[in-house]
Amino acid sequence: MDPRLETNRANWNDRVDIHVNSDFYDVPGWLRDAPAMPAHEVAVLGDVTGLSLVHLQCHFGMDTLRMARAGARVTGLDFSPVAIEQATRLAQRSDLAQRAEFVCADVYDAPTVLSGRRYDVVYVNLGSLCWLPDVVAWGEVVGALLAPDGRLYLHDVHPLAACLDDDGERITYSYFTDPEHPLVFDDASSYTDGASLHSTRNFQWIHSLSDIVASVTTQGLSLDSLVEHEWTEFRQFPYLVETRKGRYVIGDGRPRIPLSFTLLARRRA
Ligand SMILES: C[S@@+](CC[C@H](N)C(=O)[O-])C[C@H]1O[C@@H](n2cnc3c(N)ncnc32)[C@H](O)[C@@H]1O
Repeated sequence: MDPRLETNRANWNDRVDIHVNSDFYDVPGWLRDAPAMPAHEVAVLGDVTGLSLVHLQCHFGMDTLRMARAGARVTGLDFSPVAIEQATRLAQRSDLAQRAEFVCADVYDAPTVLSGRRYDVVYVNLGSLCWLPDVVAWGEVVGALLAPDGRLYLHDVHPLAACLDDDGERITYSYFTDPEHPLVFDDASSYTDGASLHSTRNFQWIHSLSDIVASVTTQGLSLDSLVEHEWTEFRQFPYLVETRKGRYVIGDGRPRIPLSFTLLARRRA
C-alpha cells in the first residue's frame, strides 16, 4: 500500500474507538432511535428496498446500516480493521447483521476484494474523497463496481470549503492539489469530542469539482445530477449555525460558499 495511506490507516485506526464513544456519533442514541435514511438521500436515491449497495469508506458502519434498515442489501468497505470490527459489532447490536457485511480493504482494491461483484448503488458520503490521492483511479473503481443502470451516490465536502483554514476565515490550501504534494496534517484531535490521538499524522488531497465529475464521466457514467449545497452535516467552521439536527449553514450574514455537494451518476444499461 502507498506509505501515505499506511500512515492514514494508523490515524484512522486510532480514531475509531474515540468516535464510537463520542457524543458526535451518539451510538446509544442511534441504537435507540434507529434513524431512517435522511430526506436529502431519499430525494436523490428514492426507495432502496431490495437494492444491492456498497458503501466505500464506511467507517464503523452507522450510515451503511441505515441503508440496510431502509431495505438495501449492504456491503461496507473500509481499510481500517478497527472500523470493520466495530461495524460488524454494530450490525449485530442493531439486528441488521443478516442484511449487512463488512469488508476490510483499501478502496483501490475494492473490485478485486469484492470478487468482481456489481452493485445497484455505490454509496460514498461526507469526508471520503479527501483521503484518496488519485480521483481518476477512484472513478475506475466506481465504474468497476456498478451494475448496468447502477448509480453512484456521492455526497462529500465541497472542495472550495476544504481550501479554508480551521476557522473558515482564510483560503489556506490550494484548490488544485498536486497529487504528489498532499496536505500534511499533524493533529492530536479528530473532528469529534473525545480523547487525543496517538497516530496524529495524516495526508489529505483536495480534488476539484471538475476532476471529480470527470473521474466518473470518463468511465462512461452519465451525470444525472450535481448539486452544490449551502449546508453540511457537521460544524466544519466555528461560525456555522445548526438550523436543525445535523444541518449546518453559514450564519452572521457572511458570504455564502458551498459547503457540500451531491453527485448522482449512472452506468448506462
Ligand atoms: C470520515 S469517514 C467517512 C464515513 C462517514 N461519512 C462517517 O462519518 O461515518 C472516512 C473513512 O475513510 C476511510 N478510508 C480512508 N482512506 C481509505 C482507503 N484508502 N481505503 C478505504 N478506506 C479508507 C477511513 O478509515 C474512514 O473510516
